[in-house]
Amino acid sequence: MRFEPGALAARDGIPLCVPQIGGNEWKYLKECLDTNWVSSGGPFVERFEGVVADYIGAQYSVATVNGTAALHIAILVAGVQPDDEVLVSTLSFIAPANAVRYVGAWPVFVDADPGYWQMDAEKVVDFLEKECRWTNSELRNKRTGRRVRAIIPVHILGHPCDMDPILKIARKFNLVVIEDATESLGASYKNRKVGSLGDIACFSFNGNKVITTGGGGMIVTDNAEWAHQARYLTTQAKDDPLEYVHKEIGYNYRLTNIQAALGCAQMEKLDEYIAAKRRIARAYAEAFAAIPGITCMPVAPWASSIFWLYTVLLEQKVYGMNSRVLMRQFKASGIQARPLWQPLHLSPAHPGRHAHNCPVAERLANEAISLPSSVGLRVEDQGRVIEIVKASAA
Ligand SMILES: Cc1ncc(COP(=O)(O)O)c(C=O)c1O
Repeated sequence: MRFEPGALAARDGIPLCVPQIGGNEWKYLKECLDTNWVSSGGPFVERFEGVVADYIGAQYSVATVNGTAALHIAILVAGVQPDDEVLVSTLSFIAPANAVRYVGAWPVFVDADPGYWQMDAEKVVDFLEKECRWTNSELRNKRTGRRVRAIIPVHILGHPCDMDPILKIARKFNLVVIEDATESLGASYKNRKVGSLGDIACFSFNGNKVITTGGGGMIVTDNAEWAHQARYLTTQAKDDPLEYVHKEIGYNYRLTNIQAALGCAQMEKLDEYIAAKRRIARAYAEAFAAIPGITCMPVAPWASSIFWLYTVLLEQKVYGMNSRVLMRQFKASGIQARPLWQPLHLSPAHPGRHAHNCPVAERLANEAISLPSSVGLRVEDQGRVIEIVKASAA
C-alpha cells in the first residue's frame, strides 16, 4: 500500500495527509505546456510569489524548489556566518537544523512548551539572558564562546509559536528571527499571519502540506535587500547572465513555472482547505473529549491554528496503550498514523550539539500520534479512525 504524498490511497486504506487536487490545476498546467513555459521562469512563478506575499501580508517573496532550500537561503541572507549559533526548536522536522549546518553554523536546540508544544519562549529568554554574555555589541554563548546570531521558531503542526517574547528578546540582543512556517500556512498569531511576524520566513509546498506544488517553497520578507539577495542566490548568482559572470556561489533553487502553476491553483483553494482541516480537528476533538488519557491538540488563546496534522497525546497508564502500539493497530487496518519527530537534540545527525535539557519535547515525542488529516478525508473514514482510538482505550 503506497501512502507517500501524492499517492492515491489504496482501496479501503486511509493515508496520513495527501494532496487535494480539485481546482484549476489542469487548466494552468495546460497553459504552461501550450505556451512552452515549463522551466524556472515564467508568468506563474511571479504570480504565485505575488499571491503568497499578499496572503501573508509581506512585501517580498521568492519562490524556491522546496522549503529546505528556502530555509538555507533565508539563513544566508540574514547574515548567519560559519560558526555562529542559531536557536532552533528541538521538536521539529530536521530541515531547519540541517539548514543551519549548510552554512557552517550550529543549532542550539530549545525545548517545547508543555501547553502548546511549540518552541518554549521562556526557555529561549532564559538561555539568552543567563547562558550568554553581551560584549562588544554581540551576544556570545558563555560555554562555547560562539556568537549567537538568530532564532528559528518552528510553527509546528499548523499552530504558531508564542512570538512576542521571542521577538522582544531578539530585538534586545540584535538577533534575527527566521520563522519556519512550513507547516502552518494560514495560521495566525494575535490576528497576524505566521510568516509576517519575524524578519524573514519560509514556507513549504511539499505534497503533505496544506497546499502543494509537488515540491516547492517560498521565502517572504519585508527586507528589500534580503529579498533581492535571495532571488540572486537562488538563480545561480548571475551577475552577467549573458557572459555568465558570477561573483558569488549561487544555487539552482528556483521553482519552475509548472510547479508555480500548481501553486496558483492551490492558493485559490487555501481557505476552503483550511476550513476542511478545522472541521476534521473539531470532529476528532469531540470524539476524544470523553476518553481518559487522551490530550487533544491544544490551541493557545492567542492562536488561530490550521491543524495541519491532527495530533494527540496518549498517556499510556490512563489510556491503556502507548502511541506505538496504537500505530500498529492502525497499520493492521490500512490506516496511516505516525509519531512526531525524534527531538533534534537526540538526533544522530546532530551529535552532541548543545544537548540542553529538553524533557518536554522528549515526553511529547513519546506520547504523540498524528492521525489522518488529509483535506479530502471522508467523514466515514474519519469515523473508522475514531472507532479504533475508542476501541483501544482501557
Ligand atoms: C518544520 C519543517 N521545516 C522544513 C521543512 C522542509 O520543507 P521541504 O520538504 O519543502 O523541503 C518541513 C517539511 O517538509 C518541515 O516540516
